[in-house]
Amino acid sequence: MTTAFGVRAVVSGIGAALPRRVVTNAELAAYLDTTDAWIRSRTGIASRRWVTAGTATADLAAAAGRRALACAGTDAVDAVVLATATPDHPVPATAPEVATRLGLSGVAAFDIAAVCSGFVYGLATAAGMLAGGDFRRVLLIGADTYSTIVDPKDRTTAVIFGDGAGAVVLRAGDAAESGALGPCDLGSDGRLADLGMIPAGGSRQRSANVTAVAEDHYFQMRGNDMYRNAVQRMSESAGRALERAGWTVADVDRFVPHQANARIATAVAERLGLTAGQPLSNIEHVGNTAAASIPLLLAQAHADGRLRPGDRALVAAFGSGATWGATTLVWPDLPADGEPDFDLTDGE
Ligand code: UT7
Repeated sequence: MTTAFGVRAVVSGIGAALPRRVVTNAELAAYLDTTDAWIRSRTGIASRRWVTAGTATADLAAAAGRRALACAGTDAVDAVVLATATPDHPVPATAPEVATRLGLSGVAAFDIAAVCSGFVYGLATAAGMLAGGDFRRVLLIGADTYSTIVDPKDRTTAVIFGDGAGAVVLRAGDAAESGALGPCDLGSDGRLADLGMIPAGGSRQRSANVTAVAEDHYFQMRGNDMYRNAVQRMSESAGRALERAGWTVADVDRFVPHQANARIATAVAERLGLTAGQPLSNIEHVGNTAAASIPLLLAQAHADGRLRPGDRALVAAFGSGATWGATTLVWPDLPADGEPDFDLTDGE
């Protein structure tokens, strides 16, 4: 039985995974023209996790997905959707491999390329699939290994990004249920494509053979313009998502912003009129984990009790493209795994 709002996506499980290797600011300052003080004060980051050679996005994605399925108490979903900008290969998509590693060969599986907004785009996509009636459960994963695409010599990007994965199981349900996702606001502006881009390796500038500039194969970012646009677009999108949900700022318990930079999250929260205690954050110890940022933050906040059943959460993201998105969510009563430790374990 559904309400007048129709079938809604309901969160029924969450999980996350982090590579074990901790990279401190001091480690980066040993070979980059930067300091621990600069990184902390300008970004809020003290350390991040980076994969070691041999570990790829699918490894993190499968580990997070497995934990989300266990939390949901199911090993059966109808689709695996992976938001990532760092697929294991340019072709094919990484989601089918992740599905197979989870024992889900045969289900629909595809990647979403909306960079740091990818998880919110994935929420909207999964919600539509569930509302259409052809899918009853979707595993949505956000996973990225930006350490594999940042130029180790570029202090603008190398200090910001970390690797990780987060996942949710979404099932078809009712708007009145705890865990129900609200309406999603999504947007993009291709005029801002050069805010964050890997110039080479795609169809326009194909490979190292035809590219003189090695840097073109790394992620390049116009940090300052990205910063300004992130603050503006995330605030506007969050405002629209609130309006569509029929919420006001006073209805929000927790703000879950994409962890691009601690100063961006604070500026967005201030613009929205939220109080200092409302934004959740994990950037200090994981950095900007791109598409993994929001589900990883949700998983950690759920595990350590910062996010409680019934909390009304506002979620917002901005990423390269440019893309942005926001939605609302009432946090469900999920089993806590009791141990807010999502380190990748052997065999995952
Ligand atoms: O996830 C979505 C995509 N990413 C983002 O949303 C990130 C958005 N951007 C940012 O987070 C910030 O713009 C950065 C962290 C990248 C840069 O911080 P900023 O406060 O915007 O610094 P800035 O670019 O205005 O640069 C200020 C100074 C410059 O030096 P001069 O020109 O004033 O002498 C930079 O060269 O800081 C310098 N700088 C650094 N210094 C030490 C830039 N990066 C570093 C660094 N260490 N790592």
